Amino acid sequence: MVEKFLVTAALPYASGPRHIGHAAGVYIPADIYARYNRMKGNDVVFICGTDEHGTPITVQAIQEGVKPIDIADRYHKVIKESFDRLGFSFDNFSRTTREIHYRLAQDFFLTLYKKGYIYERRMKLLYCPNCKRFLPDRYVEGICPHCGSEGARGDQCDACGRVLNTVDLIHPHCTICGTPPTTRESTQWFFKLSAFEGAIKNMLEESRHWPDNVRNFCLQLIEKEGLKDRDITRDMEWGIPVPLPEAKGKVLYVWFDAPIGYISATKEWAQQIGQPERWREYWQGNVKIVHFLAKDNIPFHALIWPAMLMAYGDFNLPWMIPAYEHLNLEGRKMSTSRGWVVELNDFLDEFDPDMLRYYLTINAPQRRDVDFYWKEFQRRVNDELADIIGNLIHRTLSFIYNNFDGKIPTPSEFDEQDKEMIRLIKGAPLTVGKHIEEFNSSAGLKEVIKLARFGNKYFNDKQPWRTLKEDPKKCATTLYICAQLARSLAILLAPYLPFASQGLWKSLNLRGDIHRQRWEAAVELGLKPGQHINKPEPLFTKLSDEVIKKQEGKLQALLKFQAPSVVSEQDFAKLDIRVGKIVRAEPVPKSKKLLKLSVDISGKRRTIVAGLAQHYSPKELVGKEVAVVVNLKPVQIMGIRSEGMLLAAEDEKGPSILTTDRPVKAGARVR
Ligand code: 2FM
Ligand code: ZN
Repeated sequence: MVEKFLVTAALPYASGPRHIGHAAGVYIPADIYARYNRMKGNDVVFICGTDEHGTPITVQAIQEGVKPIDIADRYHKVIKESFDRLGFSFDNFSRTTREIHYRLAQDFFLTLYKKGYIYERRMKLLYCPNCKRFLPDRYVEGICPHCGSEGARGDQCDACGRVLNTVDLIHPHCTICGTPPTTRESTQWFFKLSAFEGAIKNMLEESRHWPDNVRNFCLQLIEKEGLKDRDITRDMEWGIPVPLPEAKGKVLYVWFDAPIGYISATKEWAQQIGQPERWREYWQGNVKIVHFLAKDNIPFHALIWPAMLMAYGDFNLPWMIPAYEHLNLEGRKMSTSRGWVVELNDFLDEFDPDMLRYYLTINAPQRRDVDFYWKEFQRRVNDELADIIGNLIHRTLSFIYNNFDGKIPTPSEFDEQDKEMIRLIKGAPLTVGKHIEEFNSSAGLKEVIKLARFGNKYFNDKQPWRTLKEDPKKCATTLYICAQLARSLAILLAPYLPFASQGLWKSLNLRGDIHRQRWEAAVELGLKPGQHINKPEPLFTKLSDEVIKKQEGKLQALLKFQAPSVVSEQDFAKLDIRVGKIVRAEPVPKSKKLLKLSVDISGKRRTIVAGLAQHYSPKELVGKEVAVVVNLKPVQIMGIRSEGMLLAAEDEKGPSILTTDRPVKAGARVR
């Protein structure tokens, strides 16, 4: 029976490049699921796109001094490029800034409004007196009122996953300028989430097939505090205007419009294929809607979104919500602001996309947080991908190419070992497929590796290099079976490693696109004796220690220069930095690195010991205007009292002191 699936992968914010954690926890598993189901003959539409509204975009725009649309344009391109390079097979990769999405999001709002599920209320909101703006969502950070973690954002705490209201944050501060906010009244529109508490509870009761991290999280949350109404509008310019005349200057909250993007992107897809009404089939009736996402997105998809759908009334509820845990990097939580991430495009500049797909699937954050370690990546690629799969295929195809004229040999009678190998080939598609259907693609891939491992053992046990002369018929049978195994592996690997599987398909001289093959074809011994194969090429190249060390080195360098992500203005103001003029410079006896400087600051001279001797001669320094931190606690360095610190930039060439752009009075404040 052909089943219909709408598969979605959480729409990434177009606020920056995506990193390997995103790929591991959303996009790779979603792509495997979509690809597998297509091969099963199911009717799949796979949807994604960039989420281009909200404070993630505007905060980035403010920090860079550009317009939000510039950020969205830039990162839509960057993200799409990285997703294409990873082979994600979306039927549509859209954007939430498109007209079609604006119309649907506004229609959603108005429909809910007319049905009485949206109401207006005045409320207290945080306001930054310095930036002169309201502080919704990511404009404000503080301590989570639920779990006490620092760095909770205005709309959600990453540590406990709870959805927050900005005014509940403890010790909030403006993320742009660090100022503690005041409060101001404003009118906003609320979604009556509370009206759906019973219905959502029923939905969760019935969704016993949902993963525990989704179902239990939601049930516990309802149990504890119930479902409260949520404000779904914001005082911001960037976003979809609230379609009410009295709501001038207000936009929809990004988490109200974003999930509607799944529907608008399906509509857009239907238009693109020239069947504009076709999208309905994937939102109404007999279809399974599967939302792949990371755990932070759970409350939005499993509570608020289903309630919005219930309120709207026309569409199916999610059938499944696979939610992934986090990928850490070398034992630390990934952090974009601290640079502790590996961006996808950077990764793909150096490595084969299938290697990443392999590692992040075998080691997927399915039920718990897992780590990406460069060494572990190297080990798995070399010992598993190259030594088990690559080796089996290469030795099989090379043997046939060199000893059988490049033709699939004709088998003779099968012995017990041959039969066992064939039994395993025939059994694998069902086992692997079942795992993928149960949203455990990692277990499925482990089965494929197991099959290849058996294949290598079979090859070794059969010793074709000996039987080639001693018992040619036996040798031919062995290689016939190994070649069939290679063909089945190509099919089984297709959802996982879309590039390598296509390469293998070509090496076997099989026609067409591997991704158009039926999954069940993997049970067949589908290669005909006498059929030519192509000259085999190794599927995977092993990763050298040097290549891995280079990547580890990049991270090590980051650790050295780590700074806190946000510093308040008050904190910054604690540093007294002044322009000083170097009036004397001399070497420090017995030190190769240090120079003793005498610096004039407002007519007073200070002694500063600086590690510049290997990069500057005393002569070059005299007369330079430099930036000096003057309120550091004095320290003794090699017996000299040093009363301040000279600011310098540092890269691989060494330090470069910071000087002024024009002559400035010594003592002038730097800020
Ligand atoms: O966490 C994120 O990156 C969000 N932009 C996900 C949105 S998913 C959907 F609702 F669009
Ligand atoms: Zn501010």
